[in-house]
Amino acid sequence: MAETLLDVRQEPKARAYELVHAAFDQVMGDTDDPVTAMATVSALLHHGFGFLWTGFYRVVSPELLRVGPYQGTLGCLEIPFGKGVCGAAATERRTVIVPDVHQFPGHITCDARSRSEIVVPVFDAAGELLGVLDIDSDRANTFDADDQAGLERLVGWFADARGMRNGRAPEVVADRSLGVS
Ligand code: SME
Repeated sequence: MAETLLDVRQEPKARAYELVHAAFDQVMGDTDDPVTAMATVSALLHHGFGFLWTGFYRVVSPELLRVGPYQGTLGCLEIPFGKGVCGAAATERRTVIVPDVHQFPGHITCDARSRSEIVVPVFDAAGELLGVLDIDSDRANTFDADDQAGLERLVGWFADARGMRNGRAPEVVADRSLGVS
């Protein structure tokens, strides 16, 4: 376990995300728990980049997001699909970048200091939407295609079919692939 806090603020973005990704892999090891992964991603990104709010909203019923692991001030507990930036990303199943939240109709203000935002959908191995990764910055125009690429790669962990997901043991997965019941 790393003893020093990862700080990537001085790195070019592509390199910064590589460092975060490597730290994430190292911290997670063989841990295969999605909640642990959400907490780890949130902590690494939040402190590594110095974001304002970094965390996950999970799909808890067909059209409803509920807050999951995060770093930052209190987040809204629930966001219906279609509402705010998170709800838009969930409905459209695509990454949404908002350079200036004041220009985004229906933006949900959880922290008045928020100026720009990126929301990345998170899919499981079956392509089902698990939730969204929501990151807020206190500066306008913080996020671009490099952030999108780095973050989409990071949340690719949740769609990775390797190992167990949803409580299935690796042996069971292996047995299935061998045709053994
Ligand atoms: N900004 C989000 C709401 C969640 S908070 O920022 C934590 C939105 O408009 O979707």
